[in-house]
Amino acid sequence: STPSILILPGDGIGPEVMAEVVKVIDWFGDKRGLKFDVSHDLVGGAAYDKHGAPISDETMEKAQSVDAVLLGAVGGPKYDDLDFSVKPERGLLRLRKEMDLFANLRPAQCFDALADFSSLKKDIVAGLDIMIVRELTSGIYFGEPRGIFTENNERVGINTQRYTESEIERAARAAFELAMKRDKRLCSMEKANVMESGILWRDVVNEVAVDYPEVEVSHMYADNGAMQLVRAPKQFDVIVTDNLFGDILSDCAAMLTGSLGMLPSASLGLPMANGRPKAMYEPVHGSAPDIAGQGKANPIACVLSFAMALRYSFDQGDEATRLETAIETVLAGGARTADLLGEEGVTAISTTEMGDKIIEALTAS
Ligand code: NAI
Ligand code: MG
Repeated sequence: STPSILILPGDGIGPEVMAEVVKVIDWFGDKRGLKFDVSHDLVGGAAYDKHGAPISDETMEKAQSVDAVLLGAVGGPKYDDLDFSVKPERGLLRLRKEMDLFANLRPAQCFDALADFSSLKKDIVAGLDIMIVRELTSGIYFGEPRGIFTENNERVGINTQRYTESEIERAARAAFELAMKRDKRLCSMEKANVMESGILWRDVVNEVAVDYPEVEVSHMYADNGAMQLVRAPKQFDVIVTDNLFGDILSDCAAMLTGSLGMLPSASLGLPMANGRPKAMYEPVHGSAPDIAGQGKANPIACVLSFAMALRYSFDQGDEATRLETAIETVLAGGARTADLLGEEGVTAISTTEMGDKIIEALTAS
């Protein structure tokens, strides 16, 4: 049957960047025979305005039944004073929680044309293409006991790092599956030197590794990992790590590549009956109220999120590469949205112009 996609543009620049993704989806349908059953719905502030909730039960049901959800961004100043229970972000959290999206994939990919834009030296990042898999639904952000208590007449703040074998196993398995589709190298990061959960993490990763004899596995303490990511990031292919270390390491890796407007992500859950994982794809950036409605947003992060959907939900790795190559071509040709300006004498193009250029490059490919 035709694969299905639910598009949730959200708020601020979300709908602006998503409009460019829709052009790309249509192009793949018309020119490559890749037909998708696409539906659109509301999330975040847009859903609150209509339903009084940041995501309706009906939308939630649709999200659960499609092959992939594409989300733009949620939030904005208009909603800042709402009660926490109906804040736009709660729509996102509900999607992640109810779809049980436990593996968060954050690629750090440096397009050659933007290598000067990185905070690091060009030769350290040019050609960089790594993937961080962060466990997203467990660990220290969720473990009990937690709270601020009083002990011996002073306050004590407590969080608990807690991982079950099965939680580690499913995250590790997702990372090994990815490694199989990439360069077959996996580095697991924890602190087994000082943490019990780290010892278990390392053990379970090694147990899962038995099922993937083709993948070369290594282990690294997460603090050294942070250093190596900045020193020589190209040594990595796939990195798998827990929720806390993954939060920090993925932000660190993000700065290797430059603009927030360039960073895609995927969150994957368990396989559905058709074998595809539950999946949501979204840019890392937010709704950017400061530039919303001005045609300034860079649509590439959102377009690259769709490329991830092609690769990880629809098994269209070659078509994903076609799309990424088209983006590389557009950037190499000098096209820049405002967030990518740096060089003198270059003027910015708009969100839609960038989308059009990507379509042109696809057509020429
Ligand atoms: P943000 O990512 O929206 O913006 C940070 C800065 O980066 C701004 O200067 C913005 O103009 C720029 N920027 C972001 N995406 C861009 C793009 N595609 N092209 C060009 N420039 C871009 O983060 P901020 O300002 O902290 O949050 C704004 C709103 O977005 C808040 O309501 C926040 O809660 C929400 N948010 C939503 C997220 C999501 O939906 N996943 C993630 C982060 C924030
Ligand atoms: Mg973070």
